[in-house]
Amino acid sequence: MPVKVDMDKIVSLCKRRGFIFPSSEIYGGLASCWDYGPVGVELKRNVKETWWKAIVQDRDDVVGLDTSIMMHPGVWAASGHIDNFTDPLVECKSCHLRWRADAVEGKKCPQCGGELTEPRMFNLMFKTLMGPVEEEASIVYLRPETAQGIFVNFENVVTTSRKKLPLGIAQIGKSFRNEITPGNFIFRTREFEHMEVEYFVKPGTDEKWLDYWVKERFEWYVKLGIRKENLRLRQHGKDELAHYAKDCYDVEYLFPMGWSELEGIANRGDFDLTQHAKCSGKELSYRDAEAGEKYVPYVIEPSAGVDRSVLAFLVDAYDEEEVEGEKRTVLHLHHSLAPIKVAVLPLSRNEKLTPLAKEVFKQLCPNFMTDYDDSQSIGRRYRRQDEIGTLFCVTVDFESLEDKQVTIRERDSLAQIRVPIEGLEKVVEAKLKGEAFDASPLWATREK
Ligand code: GAP
Repeated sequence: MPVKVDMDKIVSLCKRRGFIFPSSEIYGGLASCWDYGPVGVELKRNVKETWWKAIVQDRDDVVGLDTSIMMHPGVWAASGHIDNFTDPLVECKSCHLRWRADAVEGKKCPQCGGELTEPRMFNLMFKTLMGPVEEEASIVYLRPETAQGIFVNFENVVTTSRKKLPLGIAQIGKSFRNEITPGNFIFRTREFEHMEVEYFVKPGTDEKWLDYWVKERFEWYVKLGIRKENLRLRQHGKDELAHYAKDCYDVEYLFPMGWSELEGIANRGDFDLTQHAKCSGKELSYRDAEAGEKYVPYVIEPSAGVDRSVLAFLVDAYDEEEVEGEKRTVLHLHHSLAPIKVAVLPLSRNEKLTPLAKEVFKQLCPNFMTDYDDSQSIGRRYRRQDEIGTLFCVTVDFESLEDKQVTIRERDSLAQIRVPIEGLEKVVEAKLKGEAFDASPLWATREK
């Protein structure tokens, strides 16, 4: 059984090993804003690329899109965000801290016990001014979801892609929400990244497609190594559905603070296209020439957070193990998510070993994200690589100079084998294809 990890350990590992730093740290930080470091940016890219591959590349019924963060303010009036994207806020009359009313029990401030104001509705959209004139007319909003960029481009995409329904449009990008109570590290922040699909279907087939996407998205996390017992589905009650939703399921993950939403899969009905057609005056319907029908499609929306997924993958991969009497901290990240696939480690920083080790690095780095590390003892370097989830460590030693072979050590099994430098990339490639760690095919090739 892997250890149960608390959030402090994850935050500390992230800082220590270059996954995630507090934003503007040298100025004391900015509440709930985080920067991804050299290792974290690779993990985050891998999460996004794995999602894009599963959703766009591997399917013929979904295409991609990349729309702007600032949109015409009319979009947010039509989508209901100006009127409805609000949380009830209460303020402490003594310490002036603000809370989400539904997160506070009773009428006392959780911080100082002071009296709380009556709740008032607080809009979560960030406002800014566009252009050099500061007047009401130049207010624009930072998008709180990427979805609206997709809806307003529905006609453009259908016409240019020449695809038939059902058709999905996928987008990854930044969203902004002025959350009243951000927190739990990167779980709830005011700036985050969304991975969203709007899947347009014929009305009447929407429930079937909602079922399909709920299963598909749940399985995506399982395939990427998240333990099934740490995932569950929860259907929204009628009273908690968003203003646009007919039905919605959350994929929940057992985070250190308890079961919490990882992704929402909603049936948005025809709410968005109908609203945008009404408010823009442009017809947004689909013409099925073969069936001789015209209708406003319904939309199934799997909407995931990149940062929240990163956190779930980190938490689930974290383990502390006893190896030969010593504790090792290791991230058992799935091979497609691991930030670094191979680390090249010369046994010591030595004038004879360095040129060969650098050659090995150059051989591997065009194929995989590869690290080169020749500082400190080999044991400490193994520990560092284990902590960032590196799949393989390749050690170049003095024998390598003679036999042109290196030792390759696998992160999970800790198995070590000696393999020829020539063709070394095949061992790593096999692992990335999901094959077991076994050098015998490589040996077989060499012996011929
Ligand atoms: N377009 C629908 C939509 O945005 P949502 O349930 O509000 O739905 C979807 O958000 C996902 O986006 C969440 O499940 C979560 O992973 C992520 N998310 C939402 N708000 C977030 C925040 N403040 N910080 C980090 N991730 C957030």
